[in-house]
Amino acid sequence: MSKVPETLKPFLKELSTSVRHGSYQKLVISRPLSNNEQVPSKVTVRPILIDEETMYQWIERVGPRELHQNLSADQLIQRIPSILGSILGDARLFTSEAEICARYKGRGHFQLHRAKGPQAIAEPEAHNREKNYIIPANTPCPFLAKAGIMTADGRVKASMYHKFKQINRYLELIRDLKGTLQKPETLRVVDYGCGKSYLTFALHHYLTVVEKKTVEMTGMDQRPDVIATCTAIADELQLEGLDFRVGQIVDLPIDGKIDLAVSLHACDTATDEALAAAVLREAQVIVAVPCCQHELRPQISGESLAGLWKHGILAERFAADVTDALRALWLEQQGYQVQVIEFIELEHTPKNLAIRAVRVAKPSRESIRLAEEKSRALKELCGIASTWLDRWDIQRADAK
Ligand SMILES: C[S@@+](CC[C@H](N)C(=O)[O-])C[C@H]1O[C@@H](n2cnc3c(N)ncnc32)[C@H](O)[C@@H]1O
Repeated sequence: MSKVPETLKPFLKELSTSVRHGSYQKLVISRPLSNNEQVPSKVTVRPILIDEETMYQWIERVGPRELHQNLSADQLIQRIPSILGSILGDARLFTSEAEICARYKGRGHFQLHRAKGPQAIAEPEAHNREKNYIIPANTPCPFLAKAGIMTADGRVKASMYHKFKQINRYLELIRDLKGTLQKPETLRVVDYGCGKSYLTFALHHYLTVVEKKTVEMTGMDQRPDVIATCTAIADELQLEGLDFRVGQIVDLPIDGKIDLAVSLHACDTATDEALAAAVLREAQVIVAVPCCQHELRPQISGESLAGLWKHGILAERFAADVTDALRALWLEQQGYQVQVIEFIELEHTPKNLAIRAVRVAKPSRESIRLAEEKSRALKELCGIASTWLDRWDIQRADAK
């Protein structure tokens, strides 16, 4: 790696501090130092969440093209000296506290300028002031501070803003079902594939602090490490009625009925496992946000769909939509009323669909028959022999 000029080091230090403290908002590198059209004329770097980790999307404009690359914080910091001072002359770092500029003055020398002021206000926080979130910004919330989404004094970290919004959107989905979840006794809740449990903690906060209910809530996941961390956080914050268990969704003991089953971004057929487990426990309400879908794509075939199959991305989306439509129809066959709704806008995550199902006390035979018929017709059209849930039905019937 080329030697970093002494006068650039303070800028890199500011950058490193902002990513570590979560105050980083954006970096723009501009002012080409030559007329060469083969090299970048501008670079913008914005934080994005990938599998719950903050990454930095490096967007490079070269001529009419835009090239994207996702970098870790360390890779981002290492990359700056390879472009700043040789290809581009100005870097502007926007954090939630300040705007810091590094300007190349020639002969390996950089001049730094640091400004506080209105430009330091995070765009998402400005937007947030217009919106009444269930968990508001600028109000300390212990589990969000623990999860690194807020600072201890309640400020949402710029790089975690997407997660903050996603959490609130998720709580809105649950709040819409408040009428169905009215019950004087303890609410029994299971989160299948809870992972790091941002949403489990958020749900616990909403039900116990906002709705003032008593809960018996379990977050479960196959990963012992995340379960150990979540258990430690729940103990430290003394969260009542919340526990975590390690295991496979399908192996979880059927331990009485539950009121609410949730599953967010449980990978591939783990969403099906969660739906099956929730139905077995006669969950009153199920909220599932599916993740990647791989099961049906290899099965889908047929001349009439050949036009879709020409384009990988269309085939992928189509297979995902068919999977979720069949899940919704399966839930209807189990006696649930189902809605498939938007979870969060596409700009934040491609996994933007939620399946929300409410158990019907006495489902009509006719509605079940219709759901079966629609499911059969859709599978026929797509050449699908069976889904994970169909095979689970067969196993369940055989076991009886
Ligand atoms: C993408 S993460 C989502 C975590 C969390 N629900 C969220 O939305 O932030 C998916 C989680 O599901 C868990 N998982 C996947 N398949 C599972 C299974 N069959 N049984 C239990 N956990 C599973 C993974 O270990 C992972 O933690």
